[in-house]
Amino acid sequence: MQEVISAIDIGTTKICALTAQVSHDGLGKLSLRMLGEGVVPSRGIRRGVVVDVPEATAAVGEAIEKCEQDAGRQMLSAYVGIAGSHIGTRNSRGVSPVDRKHGVTGADMQRALEGARAVALPENQEVIHTIARSWTVDGETEVQQPVGMSAYRLEVDAHIVTGSSTAVSNLVQCVVAHGIDVDELVLEPLGANEAVLRPEERRMGVAVVDMGGGTSDLAVFIDNALCHTTILDMGGNHLTNDVAVGLRCPFETAEDLKLRYGTLLPERVAPDEAVWANVFGEKAERSFSRRFVCDVLEARALEMMEIIAERLTESGFIDRLPAGIVLTGGCSQLPGFAELGRGALGMPVRVGAAQASLPISGLSRNLQMPGYATSVGLLLWGMKEDARAVHRRFEADHGSGNATRDRMFAAAKGWLKNLLPDRD
Ligand SMILES: Nc1ncnc2c1ncn2[C@@H]1O[C@H](COP(=O)(O)OP(=O)(O)OP(=O)(O)O)[C@@H](O)[C@H]1O
Ligand SMILES: [Mg+2]
Repeated sequence: MQEVISAIDIGTTKICALTAQVSHDGLGKLSLRMLGEGVVPSRGIRRGVVVDVPEATAAVGEAIEKCEQDAGRQMLSAYVGIAGSHIGTRNSRGVSPVDRKHGVTGADMQRALEGARAVALPENQEVIHTIARSWTVDGETEVQQPVGMSAYRLEVDAHIVTGSSTAVSNLVQCVVAHGIDVDELVLEPLGANEAVLRPEERRMGVAVVDMGGGTSDLAVFIDNALCHTTILDMGGNHLTNDVAVGLRCPFETAEDLKLRYGTLLPERVAPDEAVWANVFGEKAERSFSRRFVCDVLEARALEMMEIIAERLTESGFIDRLPAGIVLTGGCSQLPGFAELGRGALGMPVRVGAAQASLPISGLSRNLQMPGYATSVGLLLWGMKEDARAVHRRFEADHGSGNATRDRMFAAAKGWLKNLLPDRD
Protein backbone atom coordinates (compact mmCIF):
# COMPACT_ATOMS: atom_id res chain seq x y z
CA MET A 1 0.00 0.00 0.00
CA GLN A 2 1.22 3.51 -0.74
CA GLU A 3 2.10 5.72 2.22
CA VAL A 4 1.52 8.86 0.22
CA ILE A 5 -1.07 9.33 -2.51
CA SER A 6 -1.76 12.13 -4.96
CA ALA A 7 -4.67 13.22 -7.11
CA ILE A 8 -4.90 15.51 -10.11
CA ASP A 9 -8.22 17.09 -11.04
CA ILE A 10 -7.90 18.57 -14.51
CA GLY A 11 -10.92 20.84 -14.84
CA THR A 12 -12.11 23.32 -17.43
CA THR A 13 -11.30 26.31 -15.24
CA LYS A 14 -8.69 25.07 -12.77
CA ILE A 15 -6.19 22.26 -12.32
CA CYS A 16 -5.78 21.00 -8.78
CA ALA A 17 -2.99 18.65 -7.69
CA LEU A 18 -3.10 17.25 -4.15
CA THR A 19 -0.85 15.04 -2.06
CA ALA A 20 -1.73 13.38 1.25
CA GLN A 21 -0.22 10.99 3.73
CA VAL A 22 -2.14 7.77 4.34
CA SER A 23 -2.20 6.44 7.88
CA HIS A 24 -3.93 3.47 9.47
CA ASP A 25 -4.97 3.12 13.06
CA GLY A 26 -4.07 -0.55 13.40
CA LEU A 27 -7.76 -1.58 13.27
CA GLY A 28 -7.90 -1.26 9.53
CA LYS A 29 -9.34 2.27 9.51
CA LEU A 30 -7.58 4.55 7.08
CA SER A 31 -7.24 8.30 7.10
CA LEU A 32 -5.49 11.01 5.16
CA ARG A 33 -3.43 14.00 6.24
CA MET A 34 -3.00 16.70 3.63
CA LEU A 35 0.60 17.38 2.70
CA GLY A 36 0.33 19.72 -0.25
CA GLU A 37 -1.92 21.39 -2.79
CA GLY A 38 -1.22 23.12 -6.07
CA VAL A 39 -3.94 24.97 -7.96
CA VAL A 40 -3.49 26.85 -11.22
CA PRO A 41 -5.92 28.22 -13.82
CA SER A 42 -6.61 25.70 -16.54
CA ARG A 43 -5.29 25.96 -20.09
CA GLY A 44 -5.87 23.75 -23.09
CA ILE A 45 -9.06 22.17 -21.66
CA ARG A 46 -12.55 22.67 -23.01
CA ARG A 47 -15.69 21.13 -21.52
CA GLY A 48 -13.59 18.83 -19.38
CA VAL A 49 -11.53 17.51 -22.30
CA VAL A 50 -7.94 18.22 -23.35
CA VAL A 51 -8.06 20.15 -26.62
CA ASP A 52 -4.47 21.44 -26.66
CA VAL A 53 -2.02 18.85 -25.32
CA PRO A 54 1.10 21.09 -25.01
CA GLU A 55 -0.83 23.87 -23.24
CA ALA A 56 -2.65 21.49 -20.92
CA THR A 57 0.58 19.59 -20.19
CA ALA A 58 2.31 22.83 -19.21
CA ALA A 59 -0.56 23.85 -16.92
CA VAL A 60 -0.70 20.38 -15.32
CA GLY A 61 3.07 20.67 -14.75
CA GLU A 62 2.61 23.97 -12.94
CA ALA A 63 -0.02 22.51 -10.63
CA ILE A 64 2.19 19.49 -9.90
CA GLU A 65 5.20 21.70 -9.19
CA LYS A 66 3.20 23.89 -6.80
CA CYS A 67 1.90 20.82 -5.01
CA GLU A 68 5.38 19.31 -4.75
CA GLN A 69 6.76 22.54 -3.32
CA ASP A 70 3.93 22.74 -0.80
CA ALA A 71 4.33 19.10 0.22
CA GLY A 72 8.13 19.19 0.17
CA ARG A 73 8.24 15.94 -1.77
CA GLN A 74 8.15 14.67 -5.30
CA MET A 75 4.96 13.31 -6.80
CA LEU A 76 5.49 9.85 -8.30
CA SER A 77 1.99 8.78 -9.26
CA ALA A 78 -1.53 10.15 -9.11
CA TYR A 79 -5.22 9.32 -9.42
CA VAL A 80 -6.44 11.43 -12.31
CA GLY A 81 -10.03 12.62 -12.77
CA ILE A 82 -11.75 12.19 -16.12
CA ALA A 83 -14.99 13.75 -17.43
CA GLY A 84 -16.36 15.20 -20.66
CA SER A 85 -19.23 14.47 -23.01
CA HIS A 86 -17.30 11.55 -24.57
CA ILE A 87 -18.07 9.52 -21.45
CA GLY A 88 -20.68 6.81 -21.89
CA THR A 89 -22.16 4.50 -19.29
CA ARG A 90 -24.32 1.42 -19.27
CA ASN A 91 -25.33 -1.41 -17.00
CA SER A 92 -24.30 -4.90 -17.94
CA ARG A 93 -24.44 -8.45 -16.62
CA GLY A 94 -21.76 -11.12 -16.42
CA VAL A 95 -21.83 -14.78 -15.38
CA SER A 96 -19.23 -17.26 -14.18
CA PRO A 97 -19.50 -20.95 -13.31
CA VAL A 98 -18.28 -21.81 -9.82
CA ASP A 99 -16.48 -24.94 -8.63
CA ARG A 100 -18.78 -26.00 -5.79
CA LYS A 101 -15.92 -27.71 -3.94
CA HIS A 102 -13.94 -24.48 -3.52
CA GLY A 103 -16.80 -22.00 -3.36
CA VAL A 104 -16.71 -18.59 -5.04
CA THR A 105 -13.18 -17.29 -5.57
CA GLY A 106 -11.74 -13.94 -6.60
CA ALA A 107 -11.03 -15.49 -10.00
CA ASP A 108 -14.75 -16.35 -10.43
CA MET A 109 -15.65 -12.76 -9.61
CA GLN A 110 -13.10 -11.52 -12.08
CA ARG A 111 -14.47 -13.85 -14.77
CA ALA A 112 -18.03 -12.63 -14.14
CA LEU A 113 -16.86 -9.02 -14.36
CA GLU A 114 -14.94 -9.80 -17.53
CA GLY A 115 -18.19 -11.10 -19.02
CA ALA A 116 -20.01 -7.91 -18.00
CA ARG A 117 -17.18 -5.85 -19.42
CA ALA A 118 -17.28 -7.60 -22.78
CA VAL A 119 -19.81 -5.21 -24.28
CA ALA A 120 -19.65 -4.19 -27.91
CA LEU A 121 -18.10 -0.75 -27.99
CA PRO A 122 -18.14 1.77 -30.81
CA GLU A 123 -14.78 2.33 -32.43
CA ASN A 124 -12.38 4.53 -30.47
CA GLN A 125 -14.14 3.84 -27.16
CA GLU A 126 -12.60 2.05 -24.22
CA VAL A 127 -13.72 0.91 -20.79
CA ILE A 128 -12.61 3.15 -17.91
CA HIS A 129 -14.44 1.50 -15.00
CA THR A 130 -16.23 -1.79 -14.46
CA ILE A 131 -17.99 -1.41 -11.16
CA ALA A 132 -19.79 -4.31 -9.54
CA ARG A 133 -23.22 -3.13 -8.37
CA SER A 134 -24.48 -6.37 -6.93
CA TRP A 135 -23.77 -10.09 -6.94
CA THR A 136 -26.16 -13.00 -7.35
CA VAL A 137 -25.13 -16.45 -6.14
CA ASP A 138 -27.23 -19.38 -7.43
CA GLY A 139 -30.20 -17.08 -7.87
CA GLU A 140 -29.84 -15.44 -4.46
CA THR A 141 -29.66 -11.72 -5.16
CA GLU A 142 -28.04 -8.81 -3.30
CA VAL A 143 -25.12 -10.86 -1.99
CA GLN A 144 -22.59 -8.41 -0.59
CA GLN A 145 -19.53 -10.60 -0.32
CA PRO A 146 -19.72 -13.78 -2.40
CA VAL A 147 -16.18 -15.06 -1.75
CA GLY A 148 -16.21 -18.54 -0.21
CA MET A 149 -19.94 -19.16 -0.79
CA SER A 150 -20.64 -22.65 -2.04
CA ALA A 151 -22.44 -22.38 -5.38
CA TYR A 152 -22.65 -23.39 -9.05
CA ARG A 153 -23.21 -20.02 -10.62
CA LEU A 154 -22.12 -16.44 -9.92
CA GLU A 155 -23.69 -13.43 -11.61
CA VAL A 156 -22.78 -9.78 -11.42
CA ASP A 157 -24.69 -6.62 -12.25
CA ALA A 158 -22.05 -4.12 -13.26
CA HIS A 159 -21.87 -0.49 -14.26
CA ILE A 160 -19.55 0.12 -17.18
CA VAL A 161 -18.04 3.53 -17.81
CA THR A 162 -16.50 4.10 -21.23
CA GLY A 163 -14.62 6.99 -22.78
CA SER A 164 -13.08 8.05 -26.06
CA SER A 165 -9.62 6.49 -26.47
CA THR A 166 -8.34 9.75 -27.91
CA ALA A 167 -9.57 11.80 -24.94
CA VAL A 168 -8.17 9.23 -22.50
CA SER A 169 -4.82 9.14 -24.24
CA ASN A 170 -4.51 12.95 -24.36
CA LEU A 171 -5.35 13.24 -20.68
CA VAL A 172 -2.85 10.57 -19.66
CA GLN A 173 -0.20 12.22 -21.80
CA CYS A 174 -0.52 15.50 -19.86
CA VAL A 175 0.39 13.65 -16.67
CA VAL A 176 2.95 11.07 -17.74
CA ALA A 177 4.88 13.79 -19.60
CA HIS A 178 5.97 14.90 -16.12
CA GLY A 179 7.27 11.46 -15.17
CA ILE A 180 4.19 10.72 -13.08
CA ASP A 181 2.40 7.38 -13.33
CA VAL A 182 -1.36 7.30 -13.56
CA ASP A 183 -2.58 5.12 -10.68
CA GLU A 184 -6.06 5.13 -12.16
CA LEU A 185 -8.36 7.30 -14.21
CA VAL A 186 -11.38 8.09 -12.05
CA LEU A 187 -14.69 9.37 -13.37
CA GLU A 188 -15.02 12.79 -11.73
CA PRO A 189 -18.51 12.33 -10.21
CA LEU A 190 -17.21 9.21 -8.47
CA GLY A 191 -14.64 11.47 -6.80
CA ALA A 192 -17.38 13.96 -5.90
CA ASN A 193 -19.43 11.14 -4.38
CA GLU A 194 -16.59 10.22 -2.01
CA ALA A 195 -16.30 13.77 -0.72
CA VAL A 196 -19.88 14.97 -0.40
CA LEU A 197 -22.32 12.08 0.00
CA ARG A 198 -23.30 10.75 3.39
CA PRO A 199 -23.48 6.96 3.69
CA GLU A 200 -27.20 7.09 4.53
CA GLU A 201 -27.90 9.17 1.40
CA ARG A 202 -26.11 6.59 -0.75
CA ARG A 203 -28.18 3.86 0.88
CA MET A 204 -31.51 5.65 0.44
CA GLY A 205 -30.95 6.84 -3.13
CA VAL A 206 -29.30 10.08 -4.16
CA ALA A 207 -27.86 11.88 -7.17
CA VAL A 208 -24.68 13.93 -6.92
CA VAL A 209 -24.09 16.64 -9.53
CA ASP A 210 -20.65 18.22 -9.81
CA MET A 211 -21.36 21.54 -11.52
CA GLY A 212 -18.01 22.75 -12.77
CA GLY A 213 -16.98 25.36 -15.31
CA GLY A 214 -17.51 23.38 -18.51
CA THR A 215 -19.59 20.35 -17.56
CA SER A 216 -21.95 19.10 -14.88
CA ASP A 217 -21.29 15.50 -13.98
CA LEU A 218 -24.09 13.42 -12.51
CA ALA A 219 -23.96 10.10 -10.66
CA VAL A 220 -26.86 8.17 -9.08
CA PHE A 221 -26.40 5.90 -6.06
CA ILE A 222 -29.08 3.58 -4.73
CA ASP A 223 -28.60 0.86 -2.10
CA ASN A 224 -24.95 1.91 -1.82
CA ALA A 225 -24.29 1.08 -5.45
CA LEU A 226 -23.59 3.28 -8.44
CA CYS A 227 -26.51 2.94 -10.85
CA HIS A 228 -26.12 5.65 -13.40
CA THR A 229 -23.66 8.32 -14.53
CA THR A 230 -23.98 11.01 -17.15
CA ILE A 231 -22.07 14.12 -18.13
CA LEU A 232 -24.07 17.26 -19.00
CA ASP A 233 -22.42 19.64 -21.39
CA MET A 234 -23.20 22.67 -19.25
CA GLY A 235 -21.50 24.44 -16.37
CA GLY A 236 -20.63 27.78 -14.78
CA ASN A 237 -19.09 29.12 -17.99
CA HIS A 238 -22.52 28.98 -19.62
CA LEU A 239 -23.93 31.20 -16.87
CA THR A 240 -21.10 33.67 -17.38
CA ASN A 241 -21.53 33.56 -21.14
CA ASP A 242 -25.22 34.36 -20.86
CA VAL A 243 -24.41 37.39 -18.70
CA ALA A 244 -21.74 38.50 -21.21
CA VAL A 245 -24.19 38.19 -24.11
CA GLY A 246 -27.04 39.82 -22.18
CA LEU A 247 -24.94 42.80 -21.11
CA ARG A 248 -22.80 42.89 -24.27
CA CYS A 249 -19.68 42.90 -22.12
CA PRO A 250 -16.49 40.76 -22.11
CA PHE A 251 -16.53 37.31 -20.51
CA GLU A 252 -14.14 38.51 -17.76
CA THR A 253 -16.47 41.35 -16.75
CA ALA A 254 -19.44 38.97 -16.70
CA GLU A 255 -17.48 36.47 -14.57
CA ASP A 256 -16.55 39.24 -12.13
CA LEU A 257 -20.19 40.36 -11.90
CA LYS A 258 -21.37 36.77 -11.39
CA LEU A 259 -18.86 36.06 -8.63
CA ARG A 260 -19.34 39.36 -6.79
CA TYR A 261 -23.04 40.06 -7.20
CA GLY A 262 -24.66 36.91 -8.56
CA THR A 263 -27.51 35.20 -6.73
CA LEU A 264 -30.28 32.88 -7.82
CA LEU A 265 -32.75 34.68 -5.59
CA PRO A 266 -33.24 37.76 -7.79
CA GLU A 267 -36.45 38.71 -5.99
CA ARG A 268 -34.22 39.66 -3.06
CA VAL A 269 -32.37 42.18 -5.25
CA ALA A 270 -33.83 45.69 -5.57
CA PRO A 271 -34.93 46.33 -9.19
CA ASP A 272 -32.87 49.51 -9.36
CA GLU A 273 -29.66 48.28 -7.67
CA ALA A 274 -26.63 49.23 -9.76
CA VAL A 275 -23.28 47.42 -9.55
CA TRP A 276 -19.96 48.45 -11.04
CA ALA A 277 -17.31 46.46 -12.85
CA ASN A 278 -14.25 46.95 -15.02
CA VAL A 279 -14.57 46.46 -18.74
CA PHE A 280 -11.36 45.63 -20.51
CA GLY A 281 -10.18 48.58 -22.63
CA GLU A 282 -12.29 51.15 -20.78
CA LYS A 283 -10.77 53.51 -18.20
CA ALA A 284 -13.71 53.97 -15.86
CA GLU A 285 -15.85 51.21 -14.36
CA ARG A 286 -19.24 50.73 -15.97
CA SER A 287 -22.50 50.32 -14.08
CA PHE A 288 -24.84 47.36 -14.60
CA SER A 289 -28.24 46.36 -13.27
CA ARG A 290 -27.70 43.68 -10.63
CA ARG A 291 -31.28 42.47 -11.02
CA PHE A 292 -30.72 41.89 -14.73
CA VAL A 293 -27.52 39.91 -14.04
CA CYS A 294 -29.38 37.74 -11.52
CA ASP A 295 -32.38 37.22 -13.83
CA VAL A 296 -30.04 35.96 -16.54
CA LEU A 297 -28.27 33.62 -14.09
CA GLU A 298 -31.58 32.31 -12.77
CA ALA A 299 -32.86 31.52 -16.28
CA ARG A 300 -29.81 29.39 -17.11
CA ALA A 301 -29.71 27.74 -13.67
CA LEU A 302 -33.35 26.71 -14.14
CA GLU A 303 -32.47 25.25 -17.52
CA MET A 304 -29.67 23.26 -15.86
CA MET A 305 -32.15 21.88 -13.32
CA GLU A 306 -34.57 20.97 -16.12
CA ILE A 307 -31.83 19.07 -17.94
CA ILE A 308 -30.88 17.26 -14.73
CA ALA A 309 -34.54 16.28 -14.26
CA GLU A 310 -34.77 15.14 -17.89
CA ARG A 311 -31.67 12.97 -17.58
CA LEU A 312 -32.90 11.47 -14.32
CA THR A 313 -36.27 10.75 -15.91
CA GLU A 314 -34.61 9.12 -18.92
CA SER A 315 -32.51 6.99 -16.59
CA GLY A 316 -35.65 5.78 -14.80
CA PHE A 317 -34.24 6.71 -11.39
CA ILE A 318 -35.98 10.03 -10.73
CA ASP A 319 -38.58 8.45 -8.42
CA ARG A 320 -36.00 6.46 -6.50
CA LEU A 321 -34.10 9.32 -4.89
CA PRO A 322 -35.57 9.99 -1.42
CA ALA A 323 -32.31 11.70 -0.42
CA GLY A 324 -32.69 13.97 -3.44
CA ILE A 325 -29.81 15.73 -5.11
CA VAL A 326 -26.51 16.95 -3.75
CA LEU A 327 -24.99 19.75 -5.81
CA THR A 328 -21.28 20.46 -5.68
CA GLY A 329 -18.55 22.03 -7.85
CA GLY A 330 -17.64 25.71 -8.18
CA CYS A 331 -20.89 26.61 -9.94
CA SER A 332 -22.96 25.36 -6.98
CA GLN A 333 -21.39 28.14 -4.90
CA LEU A 334 -23.73 30.61 -6.55
CA PRO A 335 -26.06 31.63 -3.68
CA GLY A 336 -29.54 30.18 -3.93
CA PHE A 337 -28.78 27.04 -5.98
CA ALA A 338 -30.23 24.68 -3.36
CA GLU A 339 -33.44 26.75 -3.03
CA LEU A 340 -33.81 27.03 -6.80
CA GLY A 341 -33.21 23.29 -7.19
CA ARG A 342 -35.79 22.38 -4.55
CA GLY A 343 -38.39 24.57 -6.26
CA ALA A 344 -37.63 23.29 -9.75
CA LEU A 345 -37.25 19.59 -8.97
CA GLY A 346 -39.61 19.17 -6.02
CA MET A 347 -37.15 17.04 -4.07
CA PRO A 348 -34.50 17.63 -1.39
CA VAL A 349 -31.53 19.53 -2.79
CA ARG A 350 -28.45 20.60 -0.83
CA VAL A 351 -25.02 21.96 -1.72
CA GLY A 352 -22.20 19.70 -0.56
CA ALA A 353 -18.50 20.14 0.03
CA ALA A 354 -15.71 18.10 1.63
CA GLN A 355 -16.81 17.86 5.23
CA ALA A 356 -15.17 17.77 8.63
CA SER A 357 -16.57 14.25 9.14
CA LEU A 358 -14.37 12.84 6.35
CA PRO A 359 -11.31 10.81 7.35
CA ILE A 360 -9.03 13.59 6.18
CA SER A 361 -7.23 16.24 8.20
CA GLY A 362 -5.47 19.45 7.30
CA LEU A 363 -7.89 20.54 4.56
CA SER A 364 -7.26 24.19 3.70
CA ARG A 365 -10.21 26.62 3.56
CA ASN A 366 -10.01 26.41 -0.20
CA LEU A 367 -10.38 22.64 -0.27
CA GLN A 368 -13.46 22.86 1.94
CA MET A 369 -15.30 24.77 -0.81
CA PRO A 370 -17.68 22.90 -3.15
CA GLY A 371 -15.40 23.75 -6.10
CA TYR A 372 -12.73 21.43 -4.70
CA ALA A 373 -14.94 18.57 -3.53
CA THR A 374 -14.13 16.41 -6.54
CA SER A 375 -10.38 17.00 -6.16
CA VAL A 376 -10.52 15.94 -2.49
CA GLY A 377 -12.79 13.05 -3.44
CA LEU A 378 -10.22 11.73 -5.93
CA LEU A 379 -7.79 11.42 -3.00
CA LEU A 380 -10.38 9.55 -0.94
CA TRP A 381 -11.12 7.26 -3.88
CA GLY A 382 -7.39 6.63 -4.16
CA MET A 383 -7.11 5.83 -0.48
CA LYS A 384 -9.87 3.21 -0.71
CA GLU A 385 -8.45 1.87 -3.93
CA ASP A 386 -5.06 1.38 -2.39
CA ALA A 387 -6.54 -0.21 0.69
CA ARG A 388 -8.11 -2.95 -1.37
CA ALA A 389 -4.63 -4.12 -2.17
CA VAL A 390 -6.04 -6.78 -4.46
CA HIS A 391 -3.62 -5.81 -7.14
CA ARG A 392 0.08 -5.64 -7.62
CA ARG A 393 1.49 -2.18 -7.97
CA PHE A 394 2.94 -1.78 -11.37
CA GLU A 395 6.29 -0.08 -11.36
CA ALA A 396 6.39 1.98 -14.48
CA ASP A 397 9.63 3.66 -15.51
CA HIS A 398 9.34 7.30 -14.66
CA GLY A 399 9.77 9.67 -17.53
CA SER A 400 9.47 6.99 -20.15
CA GLY A 401 6.66 8.93 -21.75
CA ASN A 402 5.07 5.66 -22.79
CA ALA A 403 1.51 6.87 -22.53
CA THR A 404 -0.14 3.82 -24.02
CA ARG A 405 1.66 1.43 -21.71
CA ASP A 406 0.99 3.57 -18.67
CA ARG A 407 -2.63 3.90 -19.66
CA MET A 408 -2.93 0.16 -19.92
CA PHE A 409 -1.51 -0.15 -16.42
CA ALA A 410 -4.00 2.38 -15.15
CA ALA A 411 -6.86 0.57 -16.83
CA ALA A 412 -5.72 -2.79 -15.46
CA LYS A 413 -5.54 -1.47 -11.94
CA GLY A 414 -8.92 0.17 -12.18
CA TRP A 415 -10.36 -3.07 -13.43
CA LEU A 416 -9.06 -5.13 -10.55
CA LYS A 417 -10.12 -2.59 -8.00
CA ASN A 418 -13.69 -2.85 -9.10
CA LEU A 419 -14.03 -6.42 -8.00
CA LEU A 420 -16.20 -5.37 -5.11
CA PRO A 421 -18.85 -2.69 -4.75
CA ASP A 422 -18.34 -0.07 -2.08
CA ARG A 423 -20.03 -0.83 1.22
CA ASP A 424 -20.02 1.72 3.99
N1 LIG B 1 -18.58 31.82 -5.57
C1 LIG B 1 -18.98 31.44 -6.77
N2 LIG B 1 -20.21 31.79 -7.22
C2 LIG B 1 -20.62 31.41 -8.43
N3 LIG B 1 -19.90 30.68 -9.29
C3 LIG B 1 -18.67 30.32 -8.90
C4 LIG B 1 -18.14 30.67 -7.63
N4 LIG B 1 -16.90 30.17 -7.54
C5 LIG B 1 -16.65 29.52 -8.71
N5 LIG B 1 -17.71 29.63 -9.52
C6 LIG B 1 -17.84 29.10 -10.87
O1 LIG B 1 -17.55 27.72 -10.86
C7 LIG B 1 -17.01 27.33 -12.11
C8 LIG B 1 -15.76 26.53 -11.88
O2 LIG B 1 -16.08 25.43 -11.10
P1 LIG B 1 -15.03 24.25 -10.85
O3 LIG B 1 -13.80 24.80 -10.27
O4 LIG B 1 -15.75 23.20 -10.10
O5 LIG B 1 -14.81 23.82 -12.36
P2 LIG B 1 -13.71 22.89 -13.02
O6 LIG B 1 -13.48 21.72 -12.16
O7 LIG B 1 -12.52 23.71 -13.40
O8 LIG B 1 -14.44 22.52 -14.38
P3 LIG B 1 -15.10 21.16 -14.90
O9 LIG B 1 -15.27 20.27 -13.74
O10 LIG B 1 -16.38 21.57 -15.52
O11 LIG B 1 -14.16 20.65 -15.94
C9 LIG B 1 -16.73 28.60 -12.89
O12 LIG B 1 -17.75 28.77 -13.86
C10 LIG B 1 -16.86 29.69 -11.83
O13 LIG B 1 -17.36 30.89 -12.37
MG1 LIG C 1 -14.37 19.86 -11.94
